Amino acid sequence: MNIIVGITGGIAAYKVPELVRLLVKAGHEVRCAATEHAMEFVTRVTLETVSGHPLYSDLFANNEHSTQHISLKDWGDLLIVAPATANIIGKVANGIADDALSTLLLAFSQKPVIMAPAMNSLMWAHPAVQRNIETLRGWGIRMVGPEKGELACGTDGIGRMSEPEAIVAEVEGGERKAASGERWLVTAGPTYERIDSVRFIGNYSSGKMGFALAQALAETGADVELVTGPTHLNISHPHIHVVRVESAREMYAAATKAFPQCKGAILSAAVADYRPAECADHKLKKQGDEGMTLQLVQNPDILATLGGMKQEGQTLVGFALETDHELENAQGKLQRKHLDYIVMNSLRDKGAGFGVDTNKVTILGTDGSRTESPLMSKKEVARLIVNTITS
Ligand code: PMT
Repeated sequence: MNIIVGITGGIAAYKVPELVRLLVKAGHEVRCAATEHAMEFVTRVTLETVSGHPLYSDLFANNEHSTQHISLKDWGDLLIVAPATANIIGKVANGIADDALSTLLLAFSQKPVIMAPAMNSLMWAHPAVQRNIETLRGWGIRMVGPEKGELACGTDGIGRMSEPEAIVAEVEGGERKAASGERWLVTAGPTYERIDSVRFIGNYSSGKMGFALAQALAETGADVELVTGPTHLNISHPHIHVVRVESAREMYAAATKAFPQCKGAILSAAVADYRPAECADHKLKKQGDEGMTLQLVQNPDILATLGGMKQEGQTLVGFALETDHELENAQGKLQRKHLDYIVMNSLRDKGAGFGVDTNKVTILGTDGSRTESPLMSKKEVARLIVNTITS
């Protein structure tokens, strides 16, 4: 692989020659790009010697590549920024290109990028930095670290750059995942079952859990078909294709069409089990003082259908939203619907389930495995689920 290592101005830059050496040893072709401040911490001679190529650090230099940010972008398969300071993270998140490396990073928007942040722990904790990190993650940029430990400023906390070996492991792992070109199906959100032209039967699902799953899968290099019921959420990622549906029957049609081409599916949608037997094409009027009886018929069970369609090598993951006898009920669904994993969340756990940004889950596998999460953000829960079902 052709790898560009971008270096910014942090003390951890002293570890970069070792990172370059390990990448070259692993068989990669490496070129370095550095900011002006990076050159305060590591020398041009060292970087050019370990990489075997001229260093790219001056946007206006008239040398081998006069528009190097474009030619290097064409040459590189992967760009690693190590260390990634709060400054470069902020620049990329806000589209600023004012030097050689930040210009290259913007030109690299369609290719994989890994960042290894390093900074003081208070800077790392700043809401602006955290917001920028989430923005970059949302665009598919992979983060390695930062780690907890002793920092250059003499304090102890989160902010150390990950060791070169950990960054190389992320490169190799990502290469394997991306090369696999797997396609995954995710269902999200509620379904609406029409009663008449203005009313429906629905539920409180926001789609947050399913969107986080689509994002976590895409971050591993998978292509995701996200079939979602009505939600206000939006997602923009080059590897996520969103199909918006309204009813359980529409979700059934989209999911059964996509599943045969997929490596696996995670069904997190809250699908209505029943729909009105008839849907009036006008607004139903109140009839005197009498009550009203709605006749309901069963919707198709999408998860059970996919369980019947599943071929060797496909992975099928369902969710179970429970209020009592949680594990027993989830185990029942795991077996009845021919799943590989079921993710149980209980409405008895505060902060879990519908609408909120957090969840607490137990992932049960047919292999007898059981993984429990604490209450954490749905984004973190999604990463845990994806790691569990793909490792
Ligand atoms: O969207 P959020 O606000 O973030 O909330 C997330 C969530 C609570 C909706 C999610 O974490 C969750 O629990 N989703 C499953 C909800 C549910 O309908 O559970 P269930 O136990 O009724 O269904 C079991 C499984 O069968 C689910 O995977 C469901 O998608 C699937 N199913 C159910 C009925 C049906 N007709 N077709 C299905 O595919």
